[in-house]
Amino acid sequence: MKFEFYLPVEVIFGVGSLNRLGEVARRFGFKAILVTGRQSARKSGALEKAIDSLKRHGIKEVLVFDEVEPNPTDTTVNQLSRLIVEEKVDFIVGLGGGSALDVAKASSLVSSNEGSAWDYVNYPEGPRLIPFLNRPVICVPTTAGTGSEVNRYSVISSPVRKEKMVISHSLNYPKAAIVDPELTVSMSRKLTAVTGVDAFMHALEAFTNRVEDTFADHLAITALSIIKEWLPIALEEPENLKARAQMSYAATLAGIAIDRKRVALIHGMEHPVSAHYPHVAHGEGLAALAPAVTEFNYRGNPEKYKVVAEVLGCGSEPHRAVDCVVRFLEKVGLLITLKDLGVEKEKLERLAEDVYLLARGLFLINPVEPSIEDIYKLYEKAYG
Ligand SMILES: [Fe+2]
Repeated sequence: MKFEFYLPVEVIFGVGSLNRLGEVARRFGFKAILVTGRQSARKSGALEKAIDSLKRHGIKEVLVFDEVEPNPTDTTVNQLSRLIVEEKVDFIVGLGGGSALDVAKASSLVSSNEGSAWDYVNYPEGPRLIPFLNRPVICVPTTAGTGSEVNRYSVISSPVRKEKMVISHSLNYPKAAIVDPELTVSMSRKLTAVTGVDAFMHALEAFTNRVEDTFADHLAITALSIIKEWLPIALEEPENLKARAQMSYAATLAGIAIDRKRVALIHGMEHPVSAHYPHVAHGEGLAALAPAVTEFNYRGNPEKYKVVAEVLGCGSEPHRAVDCVVRFLEKVGLLITLKDLGVEKEKLERLAEDVYLLARGLFLINPVEPSIEDIYKLYEKAYG
């Protein structure tokens, strides 16, 4: 057994916990900026509730930056960072799905240090950042999937480079996460499915990759069994708060698991897809790739895939994990191909090259180390 654990994020979990936002925030200053997407937090009433809670606890000024797009870009992070500096904002609140949270976190790093967002992609840990100047971030997720509220990652796209990369740094953790399952009730069926599948893939990839971490394995396998049971219920009964709470809990566990263990080839192959096709939701891209990649991977770590098969209820043979993943995707309406998502066949070669150039860090921890030919073949298979 082997594990390391350090999570510098205060996590407040529970139905109604959004009301605690002001109480948590007051220690960070008087002037806040609330970072969110263009519509959903306003429409659901979450934005108003968040501002109310902040004001009730003595936060004097709350600016709203509501221009975060799906698959957010470095341009957005830079724009927000400039605003934060100009307005002398004390702290940042991210309210929304993974995009809003990732942008909120990255804007703290960029606005508190030198350079622009892309400088921090693949940025090594080291003394060049000035940690005590980083503005505090509070993350309030309104989906159950990303886990961004409890980890060090921000996924950022560059439309110019057509690349989607990860800022991964110990200074990119939020200070606090307020996880209120009630906020996820207003998600559409499709958003519930694609974000739930993202959490599922975090759990699956963290559990099966080659990083040794017993503690994170427990979190991941627990998350997997919860999602298998409760995502179908959340889809059928969107108002079922118990199902929503289970999904928020599982997404949190999986978010911590990938903080420790990272992900693997399904994520490594998805990022180029949504970098070249920004209309593709991250969870859809993962769903299209997962059956082929799981088929490729299970031989590399049969003991782990045996557990996956058992937990997902498909018997105890490692290869049965593949059937289980397919069955799960079918059940949540996401048994899809890259072709269904509008990916062009002639683009597959470029996607494979991108994985090889940009995501090689994941190759050694993937259950089976792939070659560029393997990756191309996997894209072909997932294309349908
Ligand atoms: Fe993900």
